[in-house]
Amino acid sequence: MNYDEIMKLALERGFYFPSCEIYPDMPAGFWEYGPNGVSLKNKYVELWRRELVRRDGMLEIDGSQIMSKSVFEASGHLASFADPIVKCTKCNSIYRADKLIAEVSNVIVPESADLEEFDKVIAERKILCQKCKGALGKAYKFNMMFGVGIGPEATPAYLRPETCQSIFVDFPRVFKVMRGKLPVGIAQIGKSFRNEISPRQSLIRMREFYQAEIEVFCNPAKLNEISNFGEVENVELNIMLDGEFQPKRISCKAAVESGAVPNKLVAYYLGLLVDFYSKTGIDVKKSRFRKLGAKEKAFYASVAFDFEVETSLGWLELVACNYRSDYDLSSHAKLSKANFEVMDNDQKVLPHIFELSMGIDRSIYTMLDHNIIDDKPNERVYLSLKPYLAPVQLGILPLMKKDGLQEKAESIFAPLRTKYDVFFDSAGAIGRRYRRLDEIGAPLAITVDYQTLKDETVTLRKRDKMDQERIKISEIEAHLSKELQYP
Ligand code: GLY
Repeated sequence: MNYDEIMKLALERGFYFPSCEIYPDMPAGFWEYGPNGVSLKNKYVELWRRELVRRDGMLEIDGSQIMSKSVFEASGHLASFADPIVKCTKCNSIYRADKLIAEVSNVIVPESADLEEFDKVIAERKILCQKCKGALGKAYKFNMMFGVGIGPEATPAYLRPETCQSIFVDFPRVFKVMRGKLPVGIAQIGKSFRNEISPRQSLIRMREFYQAEIEVFCNPAKLNEISNFGEVENVELNIMLDGEFQPKRISCKAAVESGAVPNKLVAYYLGLLVDFYSKTGIDVKKSRFRKLGAKEKAFYASVAFDFEVETSLGWLELVACNYRSDYDLSSHAKLSKANFEVMDNDQKVLPHIFELSMGIDRSIYTMLDHNIIDDKPNERVYLSLKPYLAPVQLGILPLMKKDGLQEKAESIFAPLRTKYDVFFDSAGAIGRRYRRLDEIGAPLAITVDYQTLKDETVTLRKRDKMDQERIKISEIEAHLSKELQYP
């Protein structure tokens, strides 16, 4: 399925839609999740908690979205969180220089390249404004943070551009009160904000977006002493090193031994990530860890792998895996004078940090992209989501509204609705109702018909094969729990 078809399904079936859409001044890059989108996102987040946070004994926090100016002075975002942009000298249209060059000429200039490099390629390739064909001015940097003013004095502060800054700032307290022990992961789900020059493709590049971030605090002298490494050593990763064009498929163990991944700690979390994504229904055979070159890495990263997945839009970065060393804790310690050192047995250490910074919205998009099935022979489209992630788990459909069928179906619906995501639908032809459920990935549907009134049985229909069987009403919950089980 292509982007337009995914978009159509998202809009028509209440997954997501543009924010403020009834007004002409709706800003680009802001999207809302509708009921089915929220339900899918909540389940995705629960899977993340289960497979990463709980599995690894991490600590989860929930920090503020507005943070003080000092935080971003220390983090380096005020000085360095900027995109290269160019402006048309005729019509004032603005473009992100690296994206424009890539789109128009297929040349890759990394976003952190020197500004002169963008000017050089634009001149060499004779790249002009895409709207009016006017000449482009010189490239310059634009800081992507949204500033806010707090209180009547409008004290300057910022919407966080990454959730992890609260994890760093809160580390001394969280580690102490939770009696932390290195290595320890601190996790957070929340919104981040970036004033993107060209937001695009709905959930792919937004100005306000969800991140699920994990920051692993570790002793840099013990990066190969990972007690759980055996759990992932045989998990296969597709790794594409800097300058290579094809990924190599290699186990976590071999990745460390060959030096493709710098140490066991990093390989352990890359392995957990692949394990997690394989449970989201995203096809991990179409994934790769792309090692970033010096000019491509974020300013705080010393080693970086982007976890990318191939979709109908091309390769999308879903998770940035950054070894941030002591960059963040040293910077915050220096400016705040707080103490970030902790004891690791008898050794005092300033922990290093490895992060898995996940884009939730992009992951949701990719789940739709990989799971929309155009079932032409049966004239339907269905979402083959993992049942435990489906926004609606069971549809309840009375065959007719009359003759007591509606009332009977309602009596089945009532006790289930507080335990499961159940959708009751009595409007329209039964075939159309099945199609609507298929399009939101509901794995099961039951139909209440005349036989139900005689023998307390219903028809149970399964989404993928559309097979039907007759079951007792008293067996519905057993079928649901079996179908919704995690692997
Ligand atoms: N924390 C890394 C990022 O937001 O990209």
